[in-house]
Amino acid sequence: MPAKWDDSIGGRRLHPESLMMGYGYKPEWSEGALKSPIFQTSTFVFKTAEEGKAFFELAYGLREAREGEGLGLIYSRLNNPDLEILEDRLCLWDGAETAAAFKSGMAAISTTLLSYLRPGDAVLYSRPIYGGTDHLANFVLTQFDITPVPFDCRDTIESISKRLAEVAPGRRLGMILIETPANPTVDLIDIAMGAELARRHSTAEYRVPVAVDNTFLGPVFQRPLDHGADIVLYSATKFIGGHSDLIAGAALGSEEMMRPVRAMRTFLGTMVGPWTGWLLLRSLETLNLRMNRQAANAARVADFLREHPKVVNLHYLGHLEAGDPQFDLFKRQCLGAGSMIAFEIPGGEPAAFRFLNALKLVHLAVSLGGTESLAEHPASMTHADVGKADKDRLGVTDGLVRISIGVEHPDDLILDIGQALDAV
Ligand SMILES: Cc1ncc(COP(=O)(O)O)c(C=O)c1O
Repeated sequence: MPAKWDDSIGGRRLHPESLMMGYGYKPEWSEGALKSPIFQTSTFVFKTAEEGKAFFELAYGLREAREGEGLGLIYSRLNNPDLEILEDRLCLWDGAETAAAFKSGMAAISTTLLSYLRPGDAVLYSRPIYGGTDHLANFVLTQFDITPVPFDCRDTIESISKRLAEVAPGRRLGMILIETPANPTVDLIDIAMGAELARRHSTAEYRVPVAVDNTFLGPVFQRPLDHGADIVLYSATKFIGGHSDLIAGAALGSEEMMRPVRAMRTFLGTMVGPWTGWLLLRSLETLNLRMNRQAANAARVADFLREHPKVVNLHYLGHLEAGDPQFDLFKRQCLGAGSMIAFEIPGGEPAAFRFLNALKLVHLAVSLGGTESLAEHPASMTHADVGKADKDRLGVTDGLVRISIGVEHPDDLILDIGQALDAV
C-alpha cells in the first residue's frame, strides 16, 4: 500500500511509533504550530461557489476525482482536519488503506453492521462478545429482521455452516463479526477461519465481509487485516484513548470495504468530534509504550495469580501452553499477550464481590485499556443481559472477575490484588 505521506528516511520505512508524532500534519498549515490545533468548527468556508460544488460532487460520489483532486473540507460531520490526521495515523498501525473515527466503539460497530446488513440477512458473530454488541445483535438487529447466529472458539467451519443452515435457512449471510480475544474470557477466534467461512458463503453478487473487533489486543499486539479480515473495529475508548477520559471508536480497512461504512457514518452522524479526535492524536503518541508496559505488568500479575490458592480458571493469553489449540492460534495470530486477565474466585458472586470491594489501588469500574488498572464483575456488569445458560456455557460465571492491568508499579498491583484476595 503506498503511503499518503512521506514515511521513510533514505528508502527505509519508519515504524508506526516513530510516525505517530507528525504523520499527516505539516506545521506550516498552522503558523508553525508543532502540534495540530483543534479545529473546533462545524463548517468550512469555500473559496468560491465552484469550489463548494466540486467538493460536494466528490463527497456524494457524483463523479470521479480528477487527477490530483482530493476531497476538500466541507462540514465536520463529513470531514475535519483533526479526524483526517487521526485516521491517517490509525492506518499505520493496522496497515489499512483508510479509517473512519467514530463517537464510540458501539458507533463504529453499529454503523459498520448497518452498512452491510439488510432485512432478511443472517449475521454470524463470535461469543462471548462485549455485552453491548451482544445486545445489539440479539435485541436491536432482530427488530430489523436480521437473524444473529452465534459461534464460539470451539466451532469449526463445518459446525458453523451447519448451525447457520439450521437457524437461518435460506437467509443471505450478510456479515461475520468476530471479537478476538473475546471479552471477558480472552478466548481467541481464528480470523483466517472466519475469512475462509466468508469466502465459502460469498456469491458472485455479494462478498461476505469479515469484521474483527480488535479492542483487546490491537493495534500493537494483533493486526486482523494480515489474517484476512476486511474491516477492523475498535473501541478507541480503551487502549487507543488509553486514559479513561474519552469515548470513541474506529473502523479501518480497504477503500472499497470502507466506502459504505464512511457513507453510513455521514448519514447516521456517528463521527467523533474534533476535540476528542485531538485527544486521540495525543494518546496515539504513547500507545506503543503504554501497551507494552501494561503487557509486562500483566505478565507479572498473572504469574502471581497462577500460584494463588484462591484463584481458579485463570484466563491469560501469556499462559497458553503447547498442545492447546488456542496456543497454536495465539502464535499464528497475535504479537503479544496484552494486559487483560480474568479469573474465578471459588464462592461465586459473594466471593467475587468481597474481592472487588477490598481493592485499594485497582479501581472497581467497567472499561479497560487505561493507564490505571480496573476490575469488574462481567456476570452482573458488562455482560449482565446475556442469558444465564449462555454465560455458564461461555465461562462467564458468577465467580469471574476481569482485570485490565494499567501502568502502575507491578509490585504495588500484586500487593493490592494479594490483600484483596486475603479478604475473600
Ligand atoms: C471489546 C469491546 N468492543 C466494543 C466496546 C464498546 O465500546 P464503547 O464503550 O467505546 O462504545 C467495548 C466496551 O467495553 C468492548 O470491550
